[in-house]
Amino acid sequence: MRFAGKVAIVTGGAGGIGSASAKLLAEGGAEVVVADINRDAGRAVAAGIVEAGGRASFHAVDVTSYESVSNMVEDTVTEFGQLDIMFNNAGVFGDGQLDLMEIPIEEYQRTVHINQDGIFYGIRAAALAMKNRGGVIINTASIYAYIADRKQLPYHATKAAVVGMTKAAALDLAKYNIRVVAIAPSMIDTPLIDRWRADERVWNSIRKSQMRQQFGTPEEVAQVVAFLASDEASFVNGHAFFVDDGAAAFKR
Ligand SMILES: NC(=O)c1ccc[n+]([C@@H]2O[C@H](COP(=O)([O-])OP(=O)(O)OC[C@H]3O[C@@H](n4cnc5c(N)ncnc54)[C@H](O)[C@@H]3O)[C@@H](O)[C@H]2O)c1
Repeated sequence: MRFAGKVAIVTGGAGGIGSASAKLLAEGGAEVVVADINRDAGRAVAAGIVEAGGRASFHAVDVTSYESVSNMVEDTVTEFGQLDIMFNNAGVFGDGQLDLMEIPIEEYQRTVHINQDGIFYGIRAAALAMKNRGGVIINTASIYAYIADRKQLPYHATKAAVVGMTKAAALDLAKYNIRVVAIAPSMIDTPLIDRWRADERVWNSIRKSQMRQQFGTPEEVAQVVAFLASDEASFVNGHAFFVDDGAAAFKR
């Protein structure tokens, strides 16, 4: 069991990538705190892990509030004695498809609060909990940190910030034996991309634009998260890992 004795928090744990990662970490023996703003779905994920024989609990969190994130980390350490793996994964796509001259300022700020501030709060709170025994912090970025599409400026801005914060945090936290890494997925079949699912023509055209004409699955992303969280990735630090079937590597 590669995560035996480890304690992990997964934010966005009720969602596609978060729930698949929480399950895989628990299968590896970790005590997993499934954290999300969506209480019903988060509780269901934690209950499913327990039913399958794993150890998990739910903690409500709103990552736009440092107090909420900090309380979640402190409660975890109080209950389980430590924090070894922090997966800062909660995120939103935002309204999307908005011309930059029309993006409501509130929409831009909401995306920044969740996708950027939320990651910083998670890094900071986890670092305080990990500084005496080390640990791993994994942040969810996106290939959209590196390549741009039209009318998605807030998402691009925040995901690029996640990559920048990952590098800066890895440097600052190295002396505490805390590794900080990111993942950069392409199109993964989760509720985040539901907005396109209803229109079969649009859905198929997005699917066909992928390298092998298929979406990634949350489970495929979770495998990379688990690797990065494990001691097998002990020399991996400060970088984002692409989980994109090559989407960011080639001109489309
Ligand atoms: N699905 C994709 O194609 C894709 C691609 C690249 C990156 N990502 C990133 O992966 C991460 C997970 O997304 P997903 O695809 O699993 O989508 P998802 O919508 O299934 O999961 C996102 C989760 O974040 C939670 N969340 C939203 N706001 C929150 C807040 N303020 N506090 C706490 N939790 C909050 C939601 O309730 C949800 O459970 C996101 O950061 C997303 O940007 C997704």
